Amino acid sequence: MKFFSLLPTLVFAVRVIAFPSHASLAGLSERELEAIIPTLEAREPAVPPGPLEDDSPKLVNDEAHPWKPLRPGDIRGPCPGLNTLASHGYLPRNGVTTPAQMVAAAMEGFNMANGAALFATYAAHLMDGNPITDLLSIGRKTVFTGPDPPSPAIVGGLNNHGTFEGDASMTRGDAFFGSNHDFNETLFQQLIDYSNQFGGGKFNVTVAAELRFKRIQDSIATNPNFTFVGFRYFTAYGETVAPVNLFVDGRQDDGQLDMDAARGFFQFSRMPDGFFRANGPKGNEGRDEVIRAHPVQPGRNVGRVNSYTVDPTSPDFSTPCLLYENLVNVTVKGLYPNPKGKLRKALNTNLDFFFQAISGAGCTQVFPYGRD
Ligand code: HEM
Ligand SMILES: *[C@@H]1O[C@H](CO)[C@@H](O)[C@H](O)[C@H]1NC(C)=O
Ligand SMILES: *[C@@H]1O[C@H](CO)[C@@H](O)[C@H](O)[C@H]1NC(C)=O
Ligand SMILES: *[C@@H]1O[C@H](CO)[C@@H](O)[C@H](O)[C@H]1NC(C)=O
Ligand SMILES: *[C@@H]1O[C@H](CO)[C@@H](O)[C@H](O)[C@H]1NC(C)=O
Repeated sequence: MKFFSLLPTLVFAVRVIAFPSHASLAGLSERELEAIIPTLEAREPAVPPGPLEDDSPKLVNDEAHPWKPLRPGDIRGPCPGLNTLASHGYLPRNGVTTPAQMVAAAMEGFNMANGAALFATYAAHLMDGNPITDLLSIGRKTVFTGPDPPSPAIVGGLNNHGTFEGDASMTRGDAFFGSNHDFNETLFQQLIDYSNQFGGGKFNVTVAAELRFKRIQDSIATNPNFTFVGFRYFTAYGETVAPVNLFVDGRQDDGQLDMDAARGFFQFSRMPDGFFRANGPKGNEGRDEVIRAHPVQPGRNVGRVNSYTVDPTSPDFSTPCLLYENLVNVTVKGLYPNPKGKLRKALNTNLDFFFQAISGAGCTQVFPYGRD
C-alpha cells in the first residue's frame, strides 16, 4: 500500500530533476512551478549593458569570432540574427544565453541599438525564458510532462509559437504548416525573386515592403489560423528592415543587401568573410516606409482561409503604449498569473528592464505583481 502511494512521487521527482535550466517557466501551473523551482539553480537577473561606448563599424567576423558548424545539441531558432551571433560565438554557441548576454551580443556583433536590443530581449525573456535561472533558449521549445498530465506543458524557447514567434515570416513558414523556425528554401527563393523584381537583385526597403505584404496575403489565403495581432503585428514589420539595417556591411552602409550575404545569414547563420558591423547603432529605420507602402490593420483569419478580420482591440503603430501594457498586463500576466517568492521578484526585475527599453516613449509603467 505504502509502496504504491509513493510511486507517483518518485516518477514525478525523476521528471522534475530533468527539467532543463534553459526551459521556460511561462505557462506552467502553480503545482508545476512549486515542484520545479526548488530543483533549479537560481541566478539573480544580470543587469543589461547600456549603449556601446565605441559604436563605430568594425570587423566582427574576426579571429576571436570565427563561424563554426553546429555541434550535436546546439540550439538555433527562427531569428537569423541571434543564430548568427551564436554561430560566431558572440552568444554561447549552444544557443542558451542570459538576456544581458543577448543585449551585449546584438550590440557588439551587429550594432543593434541599445533600446531595440533591450526591447526584443526582455520581451523574449518574459514570454519564452526562465526568470529563475536567468536563461533563455534562442530556439527549441521543450515538451515537459510534469505533475499535471495528461496535457504536457510546452515550454518556451524562441521557437514557441504565439508569444514572440508568429506568422508570415519572410524565410520561415507559419506554425500551422509545420516548422515555424527552420530555414525554408522555397520562401527564400521568393525573397530572391522579390529582390530581383523590386531591388535590382538586392534586398532593400522597397523589397521589404513588397515582401512583407506578399507574406501577409499568402497567409490570409492559405492559413485558416493566421494570426497577426499584438506583439507579432509590430515585430513582423520591424523584422523586414533588420536585414537592410544590420546585415549590410557597415562600410557599404547603403541599405542594399546582396543575395549571397542574405543566404549566409538566413540559412547558415554566417557572416560574410571580413564582415563589418553596421555604421552606428540601428533599430527600425525604414519600418515606416514598409508600413506606408501597404497598410494592413491587425487582425486574424477566423478558422478558414480568406476570412481576415480586423481586431480593433489590438495595439497598432498609433498606440505603442498599448502594446507595452497589453504585453505586460495580458500576455505576461497570463503566462504567470500568480507568481510567488523569488519568481515574482525576478519577474518584477525583468519587467523593469523591459520598461527601460521604452523609457523614451512616454508610456507609464504598469505593475501587474505590485511593486517591491
Ligand atoms: C536582440 C534580441 C533579438 C531577439 C529576442 C530576436 C528574436 C526574434 C524572433 C523570435 C524572431 C522570429 C519571429 C518570427 O518571424 O516569427 C526573429 C526574427 C528575425 N530577426 Fe531577430 N531577434 C533579436 C535580434 C536580431 C538581430 C540582432 C537581427 C539582425 C542582425 C535580427 C534579425 C531578424 C530577422 C531578419 C528576422 C525575420 C526572419 C524572417 O522573417 O524569416 N534579430 N527575431
Ligand atoms: C492558432 O491560433 C491560435 C489563436 O491565435 C493560437 O493560439 C495557436 O497557437 C495557433 N496555432 C497554430 C498552429 O498556428
Ligand atoms: C516551405 O514553404 C513552402 C511555401 O509556403 C511550403 O509549401 C513548403 O512545404 C515548405 N517547406 C518545408 C520543408 O516546410
Ligand atoms: C531598391 O532598389 C531598387 C532598384 O535598384 C530601387 O529602384 C529602389 O529605389 C531601391 N529602394 C531603396 C529604398 O533603396
Ligand atoms: C494594465 O494594468 C494597469 C493596472 O495594473 C492599468 O492601469 C492599465 O490600464 C492596464 N492596461 C491595459 C491595457 O490593460
